[in-house]
Amino acid sequence: MTRVFSGIKPTGHLTLGNYLGAMRQWAAVDQHRADAVFCVVDLHGMTVDHDPARLRRLTRQAATLLLAAGLDPELCTVFVQSHVDEHTRLSYVMECVATDGEMRRMIQYKEKVAGEGARGRGVRLSLLTYPALMAADILAYGADEVPVGDDQSQHVELTRDLAVRFNQRYGHTFVVPKATVPAVAARVMNLQDPGSKMGKSDDSGPGIVYLLDEPDVIRKKVMRAVTDSGREVVYDREERPGVANLLEILAACTGGNPESLASVHDSYGALKQATAEAVLETLRPVQARHRELCADPGYVEEVLRHGAEKARAIARPIVDTAYRAVGLLPPG
Ligand code: TYM
Repeated sequence: MTRVFSGIKPTGHLTLGNYLGAMRQWAAVDQHRADAVFCVVDLHGMTVDHDPARLRRLTRQAATLLLAAGLDPELCTVFVQSHVDEHTRLSYVMECVATDGEMRRMIQYKEKVAGEGARGRGVRLSLLTYPALMAADILAYGADEVPVGDDQSQHVELTRDLAVRFNQRYGHTFVVPKATVPAVAARVMNLQDPGSKMGKSDDSGPGIVYLLDEPDVIRKKVMRAVTDSGREVVYDREERPGVANLLEILAACTGGNPESLASVHDSYGALKQATAEAVLETLRPVQARHRELCADPGYVEEVLRHGAEKARAIARPIVDTAYRAVGLLPPG
């Protein structure tokens, strides 16, 4: 059976981008067709300045939202990265396979270094080695496929390179995974700045729809989205990025396609109205389920405990094999 692995980082409140680009596919498709493993990658949340209490809170909230989005612990495995030691065990090995140059070429590293530098903070070494940990996350599970939004493709490519290199040097150990990216909404853009991705750690709140935003806040954010100077609703990512973003969001929420939806709406106002309603409809059940789950924190804890056990059982033998392959002496 195909094994799928993916993760989400608790560095901020989860967004519509996370949902449309990743979580929704995990729940609607991946958990039904594959042996699927999903992880809240809390260790990755420590690669930039972080507050311990907030990290803990956001980790619990992300796990709760994964379940609210429809991940079913009967069908898939949901767990927290730091509960399974195999991630850090293998991460070190991947650091010994990757090169410094490869890490420095990662677009997200360059972007984040610029951001941290501008805030006058030192850049954590773990920000540089982040892709080695991400490769470990994926390779420890023998994942064939990694369903992600477009922004993670480069990291998955690097994971493939590292898996191939490891297998050539030390003998076949790892499955070489591939990224799967959704056909629409693979890169949801910031509503106030359609040139940049809608990211959960960004500071520009008005351009980001958070999964737990109140309905009237969501409506306002969509209605105030930056569009373009034209009037006609056309789908053109290059020339009309703001309108194209709304059309993609609408398409992802309604199951249509952006080109044909463009011809249905004759003004930007109508398009925004329809998009706001579609987003609200899409998020309503997630928010309702989230409220229910918050009333039963013991359930979420139990899911995560059991998830970590299942995850460990998959990852341990694979990481043990990798340790032996590189020449580490097994404990007696
Ligand atoms: P993260 O936490 O930034 O995002 C989680 C998932 O959401 C997708 N995504 C988006 N998709 C479309 N439009 C957007 N605006 C948008 N923003 C986020 C991301 O592509 C991702 O699929 N490095 C990863 C976490 C990670 C991981 C892994 C993923 C760690 N280890 C192993 C897969 C496999 C990250 O920061 O995702």
